[in-house]
Amino acid sequence: MNLHFLIIVSILALRSNAGGGYAANCNNISLVDTNGHTGLRAQCASTTGTDPQCSILDLNACYTYDNHDITPHEQGNFNNRCRLPTVHLDGTTIRSYCGTKFPKHVDTNELVVNDNGTLKCFETVAITPPDCASQPQLGRGSRRLPPITAILFLSIAFILGIRM
Ligand SMILES: *[C@@H]1O[C@H](CO)[C@@H](O)[C@H](O)[C@H]1NC(C)=O
Ligand SMILES: *[C@@H]1O[C@H](CO)[C@@H](O)[C@H](O)[C@H]1NC(C)=O
Repeated sequence: MNLHFLIIVSILALRSNAGGGYAANCNNISLVDTNGHTGLRAQCASTTGTDPQCSILDLNACYTYDNHDITPHEQGNFNNRCRLPTVHLDGTTIRSYCGTKFPKHVDTNELVVNDNGTLKCFETVAITPPDCASQPQLGRGSRRLPPITAILFLSIAFILGIRM
């Protein structure tokens, strides 16, 4: 086999190991509030094949908002612009308007790895608090009814109720 071909294959293999892919052997992927930051939570298999382990990765350690998009950046503090309650999870993709008119998004599966049962980005390893699995979930893909819409709906129902 040609040496150049081998070198190219090795480089590609190294590149593909460089990041991402946690979704392949993690489940229950969700967002939680971790010290006021967006935490990515998942239950991931370790190499020993024991029960999947729950861990929470502070995504502020993984992404920045570069005034255009949410992009991978070590200790990038993306929550500075993409505030916690506005960040939603859709599969493995996080979405937020980041204070702009147009939604931004990034697929966490392109960066975050499963490091033997624990989520990791760059050099940051996720935490595994005892209540990891029971912490309430944030920002699901499907939007909840915003409170103002609910209030309007109830007011209209009330007015119609009086008339009937
Ligand atoms: C995690 O996912 C598994 C398999 O999909 C499910 O059986 C289990 O109830 C989930 N656990 C939690 C805490 O959501
Ligand atoms: C992977 O995690 C398991 C369970 O936590 C542990 O027993 C094992 O030693 C770890 N393996 C490596 C290579 O770190």
